[in-house]
Amino acid sequence: MNTGILGVGRYLPEKVLTNADLEKMVDTSDEWISTRTGIKERRIASDEETTAHMGAKAALNAIEEAGLTPEEIDMILVATVTPDRSFPSCACDIQEIIGAKKAVCMDISAACSGFMYGMVTAQQFITNGIYKHVLLVGTEKLSSITDWTDRNTCVLFGDGAGAAVLGEVSDEFGILSFELGSDGSGGKHLYAERDKIFMNGREVFKFAVRQMGDSALSVIEKAGLTKEDVNFLVPHQANIRIMEAARIKLDLPVEKMATTVAKYGNTSASSIPLALAEEWENGNIKDGDVLVLVGFGGGLTWGAVALKWGKGR
Ligand code: UT7
Repeated sequence: MNTGILGVGRYLPEKVLTNADLEKMVDTSDEWISTRTGIKERRIASDEETTAHMGAKAALNAIEEAGLTPEEIDMILVATVTPDRSFPSCACDIQEIIGAKKAVCMDISAACSGFMYGMVTAQQFITNGIYKHVLLVGTEKLSSITDWTDRNTCVLFGDGAGAAVLGEVSDEFGILSFELGSDGSGGKHLYAERDKIFMNGREVFKFAVRQMGDSALSVIEKAGLTKEDVNFLVPHQANIRIMEAARIKLDLPVEKMATTVAKYGNTSASSIPLALAEEWENGNIKDGDVLVLVGFGGGLTWGAVALKWGKGR
């Protein structure tokens, strides 16, 4: 048996912050934000929409899609850079909200690559036969650590959550290969301190353009495939120019790349599961499709997974 995705889900706050709204807050323009990032608007969570509450909504959605109940979840992994508090973990808070009483819970700290790290962690527990169902949640309230006076960063980020339940699938489906990497020497380019995000945009951009394409190609090769075998790309939704670089490296047409960045901005660890769940809901991913999921983020960290969509049973 292999490890695959049994169900996906998502949650987005209702409040929309447009580029026109940002024009009134900092010295920026819709034209600058659109052409440099591809972002048009992003969602902003209310006080009640905590990181755990958004994550729980996405989680329940994914558990239902998987045909399971919260009591059947053995482990909860949460990827986030914006937990509501330093402890207990956001995973424990989500456990309490959804009533996943028997789950073992922990958070994963790998910034925007968190969902990729989480998928590979879940795979280890499932493939080794230790746990049957692992709930993986990416949930972020980036608005709570955004410096709303800094035009270099405040135009980029948004709030939201995405989730997946991982479990056993037939041999020909599921995770085919992965790549994870970290480089602590790049920590100075993207970090949060005293609850505010700092970023050297140009350095992160250069790193991301190279890494996204390289990691995507690497997992394809490790899976014994070629780029012609890939049906769909789900990149971290940081900036359309970075995403396009990866798409072009894989020779994929525009409609074969998940693109939610215009509507939701960069939602860090949530962006990959959010985009995946939305493409699945829209019928753009079908059983047997080969998907490449690829992300990068603070650390610096990066990760990619090649998987064949479907359960086969
Ligand atoms: O999840 C990972 C998170 N981080 C990222 O993915 C960020 C990666 N980096 C990027 O996406 C891009 O570097 C940015 C979108 C952040 C910036 O785009 P860029 O093409 O690299 O612009 P730049 O940094 O070269 O800045 C160009 C100019 C600067 O003015 P000067 O120095 O040339 O006079 C900035 O001050 O644009 C200015 N600028 C802005 N102007 C209007 C920076 N932010 C803004 C803004 N509105 N919001």
